[in-house]
This record gives sequence, structure tokens and C-alpha cells, in this order.
Amino acid sequence: MNPVKVGICGLGTVGSGTFNVLARNRESIQARVGADIVVAQIGARRDNPACDTGDVPVARDIFEVVRNPEIDIVVELIGGTTVARDLVLEAIANGKHVVTANKALIAEYGNEIFAAAQEQGVSVNFEAAVAGGIPIIKALREGLAANQVEWLAGIINGTGNFILTEMREKGRDFADVLAEAQALGYAEADPTFDVEGIDAAHKLVILASIAFGIPLQFDKVYTEGITRISTEDVNYAEELGYRIKHLGIARCDDEGIELRVHPTLIPEKRLIANVNGVMNAILVKADAVGPTLYYGPGAGSEPTASSVVADVVDVARTLTAEPKHRVPYLAFHQDTLSDHPVKAI
Ligand code: HSE
Repeated sequence: MNPVKVGICGLGTVGSGTFNVLARNRESIQARVGADIVVAQIGARRDNPACDTGDVPVARDIFEVVRNPEIDIVVELIGGTTVARDLVLEAIANGKHVVTANKALIAEYGNEIFAAAQEQGVSVNFEAAVAGGIPIIKALREGLAANQVEWLAGIINGTGNFILTEMREKGRDFADVLAEAQALGYAEADPTFDVEGIDAAHKLVILASIAFGIPLQFDKVYTEGITRISTEDVNYAEELGYRIKHLGIARCDDEGIELRVHPTLIPEKRLIANVNGVMNAILVKADAVGPTLYYGPGAGSEPTASSVVADVVDVARTLTAEPKHRVPYLAFHQDTLSDHPVKAI
């Protein structure tokens, strides 16, 4: 079996984690896939001491990776929506499968990207875009495929949950904890995305699209962050038997779909009230299975890389199948999306 060749664009927190996980677990992954997965090229403006890229060629121009005829799968980990959008669209146009952790890109340009991928017959996988290491996209798309999802609610920003937890448990200052989250590689390049709820809104839109089969509609999410929460608020909530958690909530009824992210008061005995630090948790209520809960690290180098590599493995399995069994991974079939409206809040 020919090896599957991967190009990694971006060697930051998640890129270096992805390289390291692929290198460390190469043999066990090969046993699962039935083919070797090889990083054939990296595109990165600078090296990262967190990973030893050895003999793998590193291009300073990341577009070299999407133009490299040897590469089967482009892994986009540069973040942002300008260069990343051009990179992903060019990769698709060149017939590459794409794996990305970029929630802003999928939430804001996913409709265009999936249409291009469908046209080209290539996969676009984005498990790592939502809730870091929790396989929530696979759970919704595959595990719950029999169900109609009624609602989902979850803690989907690790940085925000880390800040709220440290404020409650240790009385720490908001700015001080945010600086630590940045140092730990949890926060976005622009941390206002984390604390103003934008990152959670990106993720909620992606979850809702898959759960309800609707187009991505980032502009319709009611978005409020945690910047107005003080240590006093956290302490008062505690005295009353509640925890303040920042939630993303998507609910579907006959009138339409509600999409909102904001701080909420949750009784302290509820499971979700006890999800602390960088951990995320998503509760999904669906008609056949009832409630299910997904929990795990929502950010960080190797937890996020775990999801990126899982997507690479999925695509590699398809690539190594007989051509007649190859099914490109598409989260959305562009022709059958629901027009159920998103409500104004
Ligand atoms: N900044 C994000 C978070 C990273 O804290 O959840 C993972 O998406």
C-alpha cells in the first residue's frame, strides 16, 4: 500500500502537536489505517522548538504545500480567515483533501468551502474546530445520525472556562488568568475572540449546522462573552448554590432555531456546573437516544492534535479503499440543507 502523504501548514501550538502525535504514534496509526501516513512537507514561516521536524522539508511559503503534487491531504493550522481561506480553496481546487482546526474559517466561509469540496469530490474534515479533543463532530454526524436533535448546550471555550474556574476557586484576577491561558496555548491569537464569546459562537454555528442540517449562519448568533463577569459575581453565584458558566445553546422547535452564547447560572449539582479549567462539555438532547454528554479537553496542543490526526486517519482510510468505496467526507450535502429559519434574539 502506498503511503498517504500529508502536508502540514502552520507549526504553532496545534501544528507542532499534530506533527508530534503523527510521529510518535506512526506505527499504531499505520496498523489501524493499513497504510503509512507520512508528513511529506511542512509550510511554516518559522520553526517551532516544540517539535523536531528532522528531514521533513519545511517551506517558508505555505502555498508550496498546496501546490505540491505529492501531497494527498493538506492540514490547515495557520488560523485566521484571509490567508487560510485562500489556502484551503486552492488546496481543494488542486484536488487535495483538507483537514482543518479553524473554526472561524468553517463558521464564516464553510458554505463556500463545502460547495467547492463537493464540486471537486474531496473531503473537508474539521473535528478539531469544535471542543478540542472531544470527538463531537463525529458524535453528531455519525453516532447520532439516526436522531432528530432537539437541542444542545455546552461549554465550548476552554479559555473562558479556565478563567471562570480560576476566579471561583482561587479568587484570581481575570487578566492574570487570561495571560496564563495565552501562555498555555489555550487562547486564540486574538484573545478577545475567547472572552467576547466569538470563538464559542463560531463553534456553536458549526455544531448547529450538523445537528439541524442547516447552512452555517454565524451572523445570526446572539453573542455575549465573559468580560463583564467579576469575582464578586462568581462569589455571589457560589453563595446561592450556582456556578457561572459560559454556554453555547442551540435549540430547534417548530418556529425555528435559536442560537446563543452567553454566561449562565447553573445549579452547582448539575454535571455541567462541575466542568472546570480548560475542559469542555456538550449535552445533546435527541429524540431517539435521549440526552448524551460529551466531555474532554477543549484546547491545548496534543488534545487538539488528537482530533486533527483522527481526521487525517479518516481521510487516509478513504484514500486506501478501493475507488468504488471512496466516499469523500462532507459534513453537509449542499443540495439537501434545511431552510428552517434561525430566530432573531
Ligand atoms: N481558544 C480556544 C478555546 C481554543 O479556548 O477553547 C480551542 O478551540
